[in-house]
Amino acid sequence: MPERRRPSTKSRRPARTLLTAVERDAAACRRCDLWKRGTQTVFGAGPPDATIMFVGEQPGDAEDREGEPFVGPAGHLLREALAEAGIDADTVYLTNAVKHFKWRERGKRRIHERPNRVEVLACRLWLDTEIAIVKPRVLVALGATAASQILPEARVMRDRAKPFTSPLAEIVTVTVHPSSILRAPDSQSRAEARRQFVKDLRKIARMARQPRGRSATADENG
Ligand code: URA
Repeated sequence: MPERRRPSTKSRRPARTLLTAVERDAAACRRCDLWKRGTQTVFGAGPPDATIMFVGEQPGDAEDREGEPFVGPAGHLLREALAEAGIDADTVYLTNAVKHFKWRERGKRRIHERPNRVEVLACRLWLDTEIAIVKPRVLVALGATAASQILPEARVMRDRAKPFTSPLAEIVTVTVHPSSILRAPDSQSRAEARRQFVKDLRKIARMARQPRGRSATADENG
């Protein structure tokens, strides 16, 4: 009779323990040069069994100092918009495509610089590992950098809050990055961009609540 294999200890380790171990490995990451300028690796945060995972671009100045994702101005806007859309921010997993802050100096300020393709790809390992451990039902790219990694066929403005199927999660979708709202040229366009963002998040909340097996595409595209 063939010997019955015991499941590996690793596969039975709770998700929180796994995330903590991966976060420790990521803290020592040297897969690209961004670690040289960043204060620290900013790993994802949130419940290890979150239904929704949001993926941003990279930590900003505040996140780099505090070591937590989405704690600066864009994060503040995101958390407010989540609350308006009926999503408790404490129930979602927040992370970034790139885990180090890329910046250049302008006077006394550290100005955000977009990560290049090599840097994004170097970090992909950490994002894939987070997705594999958390297994979110709904995976959301915030902006083009995250979309290029989790939903490359999508265009952010054309496909915002449109559900796609993917090997990464039951539902994968995109919306704008909250910092694009902060960059809107005047208060009127900022208010409109914010309103559209909350509308996207409401749709995403509905996708996450839908009974499994029901076609999110059919329901959300109407
Ligand atoms: N912008 C991001 O993309 N991620 C953060 O964590 C903060 C700002």
